[in-house]
Amino acid sequence: MYHKSVLLKEVIENMQIKENGIYVDATLGYAGHSSEILSRLKNGHLYGFDQDDFAILKSDEKLKTISPNYTIIRSNFSNLKERLNDYHVDKIDGILFDLGVSSVQIDEKDRGFSFHKDARLDMRMDTKSPLSAYEVVNNYSYQDLVRILKNYGEEKYATSIARNIEKERTNHPIETTFQLVEIVKKSMPYKAMRDSHPARKTFQAIRIEVNHELEVLKIGLEQALDLLAPGGRCCVISFHSLEDKMVKNIFKEHSSIPDKMKNLPYLPEEYQPKYKIITSGITASQAELEENYRSHSARLRVIERIK
Ligand SMILES: C[S@@+](CC[C@H](N)C(=O)[O-])C[C@H]1O[C@@H](n2cnc3c(N)ncnc32)[C@H](O)[C@@H]1O
Repeated sequence: MYHKSVLLKEVIENMQIKENGIYVDATLGYAGHSSEILSRLKNGHLYGFDQDDFAILKSDEKLKTISPNYTIIRSNFSNLKERLNDYHVDKIDGILFDLGVSSVQIDEKDRGFSFHKDARLDMRMDTKSPLSAYEVVNNYSYQDLVRILKNYGEEKYATSIARNIEKERTNHPIETTFQLVEIVKKSMPYKAMRDSHPARKTFQAIRIEVNHELEVLKIGLEQALDLLAPGGRCCVISFHSLEDKMVKNIFKEHSSIPDKMKNLPYLPEEYQPKYKIITSGITASQAELEENYRSHSARLRVIERIK
């Protein structure tokens, strides 16, 4: 089991780590980025968030070999402010969000994230959370299934897939990933299956719903920007267009002058942007693309607090 960090060098360069700074890794995973951050700290401190117990266990094993200057927080990053406040932290010098699931979570058959492995429908990053893919597939109404397949999967065959899910589950519950894959395959023409796996978009949509990924991203990012000290940077790696669009819009909103103020000869201090965009899209180098398949869809955006 192994997770190879994406855009590692690019994140570290953009974080501009100060050895006495306070840093947050909102998505610890297997501590790939965190290890690099921690090894650059002298009297600084790293707070690492994750909602997956196994990821936390593995990260702790790795980080403790580097330095004691870290704290792992088992929490969704939507509780960033509150949980950091438990440690009296209200200003940070940098934060990273490396979104989505890790290769380890995908490879672990029992988690039900992969359409390549037969497992019980689950897809929860936090295994203590009440909503799993099983509930979504078996209990959501036809309308709700269509909505999530369209909105979170951008799935062209959403209505047909939802109709077939509804039909299938009247006889018996849909229990496994492979049962779902078969339903999806039945719901689209053969030519639609040629370019990528037919269930890719359906699995993405259900995973986003199960983990409330877009809602928590908005909450987490807003809190992160608020926590940044002047000069502090927020780095976000996204893996699909819906996430990336949300990051782009939030960064834009915080770094631009409000429309109604744009033509004023003098811009009052309170309307001047508090943040500036450092980069709006670093993608993986050719070398990384060749050695890490996950890096193909990765995009790094960085914003800095200026005051
Ligand atoms: C892509 S992996 C991070 C990999 C890590 N950067 C590394 O290099 O090892 C994403 C991790 O973030 C966690 N995660 C995703 N969304 C989260 C959220 N809203 N709150 C807390 N953890 C989250 C997942 O459980 C997973 O372990």
